Amino acid sequence: MLHLFLIPQFFLSNMVHTFAPYEDSDAPVDDIEKILAMVPSYNRHAYPNQDRESPTEVYIQMYIEGMSSFRAQTMDFQLDIYFQEKWEDRRLVHNNTKRILVKDPKLFSLIWHPDLYFANARTAEFHHVTRPNFLVWIYPNGTVWYDCRVSLTALCMQNLARYPMDTQKCDLRILSYAYDNEQVIIQWNSDHPIDTNPDIRMPDMRLRSIKPGLRNDTYATGVWSCALAEFLVDREIMHHIIQSYVPTALIVIISWFSFWLDVEAVPGRVSLSITTLLTLATQSSAARMALPQASYVKAIDVWMGACMAFVFSAMIEFTVVNYCTRRKPRKHREARTGLAEQVQNLVKNYREERAVYVHNPESSNNNNGFTTKFRCLSAQGNCYEVSLCTTNAAEQALIEKKQIREMNQSQPMFLSNRLMPLPSFKRKNIEEKIQRVERNRKYAQSIDRRSRVYFPLVFIIFNAVYWWYYAYYAPLVDPNNFMDEPI
Ligand SMILES: *[C@@H]1O[C@H](CO)[C@@H](O)[C@H](O)[C@H]1NC(C)=O
Ligand SMILES: *[C@@H]1O[C@H](CO)[C@@H](O)[C@H](O)[C@H]1NC(C)=O
Ligand SMILES: *[C@@H]1O[C@H](CO)[C@@H](O)[C@H](O)[C@H]1NC(C)=O
Repeated sequence: MLHLFLIPQFFLSNMVHTFAPYEDSDAPVDDIEKILAMVPSYNRHAYPNQDRESPTEVYIQMYIEGMSSFRAQTMDFQLDIYFQEKWEDRRLVHNNTKRILVKDPKLFSLIWHPDLYFANARTAEFHHVTRPNFLVWIYPNGTVWYDCRVSLTALCMQNLARYPMDTQKCDLRILSYAYDNEQVIIQWNSDHPIDTNPDIRMPDMRLRSIKPGLRNDTYATGVWSCALAEFLVDREIMHHIIQSYVPTALIVIISWFSFWLDVEAVPGRVSLSITTLLTLATQSSAARMALPQASYVKAIDVWMGACMAFVFSAMIEFTVVNYCTRRKPRKHREARTGLAEQVQNLVKNYREERAVYVHNPESSNNNNGFTTKFRCLSAQGNCYEVSLCTTNAAEQALIEKKQIREMNQSQPMFLSNRLMPLPSFKRKNIEEKIQRVERNRKYAQSIDRRSRVYFPLVFIIFNAVYWWYYAYYAPLVDPNNFMDEPI
């Protein structure tokens, strides 16, 4: 009930306060309410030049207080700005000698303002600590100056094809929401409308320039006057050189150490290759972590892929080298002969092999044993024993007799001496084998020796081409041309 009584009273006192004292006072107006009181027909939605049928020019400028890095993952950047707008509203002309300050957002909402917004801002907010961060000045000639502090996250589509040697161009678009370009025209305030805090530092980007621009944007609803702030930023390559390029290059160089190891050092060389390959994989995934999953090839992908290829081919090289040490000459003659001849050859080979066996009487004398042992001379000249399992002692004796007979036929003098010198044809065979092993080893080592030169050489050539391409050729491609493609 108390309220009901108070409300009419409040209105009454307000009206008295607004109109009554100044009708007959000579004091200049010092309050926006007093100004508005002098213009009873003030329509805060009507733009100032509406009666003159010409658009109102709104001059803007900004001071960039802070700026965060241009994030590739979310394709945006953050700005902390003081944003200033200036326009002329003749309806607000007053006879005060000084400008009038308005600090109350409610009072400010009583007058017309150009309704500007940031078209490509994902989020934007005013600051309210400790009081709302804004001010409005109304000059005697009707010029309104509006200054506020805004933090915003603006979208910026980056083309990362040259990452991390790229330069990004990001726009901040400022438009009026409600007034098209027949009602409001946005202009930059002076020649240098965008000022920046000289202390702005971004961890991995360097601000090259900010260019103000103007254009008319056509939408389904009409043509809107639009102001652009074009940010040109270069990525700091040093961070990526330290973080990605140097470590991966070192890993590639380490993988070449394998060429200086012995051709037969299989565990050492294999583990070196595998370790370097895995380390490189870790490095490359770490480098990609901060990047979106773009479908095009980035400069860093080319580098990582090439490093991977180098380490991988060092591994392949080892496989080839190792195979070469063990390879055998091809038996062309056998391959070309017919089946009958092949069988003959096999039989002949078998006899020759048999001829090397030296009968060991110690075990063969054992008639009730199941095994018969032979001494065998291997290619290296070492002696080892070969066991033949039999089930029957009589059968065993038969086999032995047969073997002795065979040996007699092929080499009669063979049985007479237990520690006889090797037959000449066999010795030749063994010597040939030794020579072949030596030859293979030499061949493998020569592959290693060549790799020691060619791998670094190819890597240096790759580096030259890579850095030349991304430093000189690739900038010719417009970083944002993908934006112009029709959707
Ligand atoms: C300023 O304007 C008000 C309202 O029209 C008037 O009452 C006042 O006398 C003027 N003051 C001066 C100094 O002109
Ligand atoms: C109005 O006054 C302000 C401040 O004195 C001045 O900067 C501006 O140029 C004036 N506008 C006109 C149209 O004279
Ligand atoms: C935008 O359109 C207006 C009205 O047609 C014109 O006066 C103005 O010059 C245009 N601005 C630009 C930047 O093209």
